[in-house]
Amino acid sequence: MRIELENVRHVYAPGTPFEVEALRGVSLAIEPEEVLGIVGGTGSGKSTLVQHLNLLLVPTSGRVLVDGADVRTIRGRELRGRVGLVFQFPEAALFAPTVEEDVAFAPRRLGLSEGEVHRRVGETLGLLGASHLAGRSPFALSGGEKRRVAIAGVLAMAPEVLVLDEPTAGLDPATREDLLGVVRALREEGTSVVMVSHDLDEVAEVADRVCVLENGEVRAVGAPEEVFYAHPTTAPSTVRVVRPLRGPHPEVGRPVRFEETLAALKGLLEGRV
Ligand SMILES: Nc1ncnc2c1ncn2[C@@H]1O[C@H](COP(=O)(O)OP(=O)(O)OP(=O)(O)O)[C@@H](O)[C@H]1O
Ligand SMILES: [Mg+2]
Repeated sequence: MRIELENVRHVYAPGTPFEVEALRGVSLAIEPEEVLGIVGGTGSGKSTLVQHLNLLLVPTSGRVLVDGADVRTIRGRELRGRVGLVFQFPEAALFAPTVEEDVAFAPRRLGLSEGEVHRRVGETLGLLGASHLAGRSPFALSGGEKRRVAIAGVLAMAPEVLVLDEPTAGLDPATREDLLGVVRALREEGTSVVMVSHDLDEVAEVADRVCVLENGEVRAVGAPEEVFYAHPTTAPSTVRVVRPLRGPHPEVGRPVRFEETLAALKGLLEGRV
């Protein structure tokens, strides 16, 4: 699935004293089978943007196209099964008496058989390392456990595009690594992932492309090495380490991921000894 935003503007509370222009003409494509990282300061419009991808918000002007068709011609419920959105702090929306029931809720509403629902619940809880929680109350879990369950609830719809709004905020490093592993696994299987994050280091690890939002506009979009090396204020720690070395040692290249960076620095050191 390819989703395209064409000059999307979004104004909250238009015509009132609380009017806010949250998106000011955003054009951006989500390509099939990619991980797109969306970064930008607080209030830059990231959450507003991603809610346009599955019709939770409609543009004040501009268009959202899914495989070339205007989303307004597609039924909301159908689209929300194909584009799964995990909200910022999704654990707030857990509601069922058991984890299993909670994760089953959305796929059941897609009209799947009970056998298929059961299979998907088992599979997604397994993928998120939460199988052992199936019979527990979602309210009696730790924050990280709740996050896993909330993400499983969206993944159980088997969306073609998974949108994660700050999925790792407030999680411990091990849970964060697990979640990044899930993102990589989904991409391998052909699911596109849109990941909003304040953590540039984790975006550097998983993203195929990066979009930088600033004040409701796209400031930059492209391959991580292009975007991160061109915009010093929006760069992960790997890029901040390498950038000052590039003048005297252009052969160091433009590594972005941690392992790549380590290899480049090792090469540089070995060359000099
Ligand atoms: N429901 C709403 N009603 C009115 N204004 C809103 C609403 N939601 C967001 N805004 C405003 O729109 C702008 C963009 O907000 P948005 O939540 O999209 O930012 P964000 O980039 O996700 O920020 P953060 O990193 O803090 O989550 C902000 O100025 C915000 O105050
Ligand atoms: Mg947000």
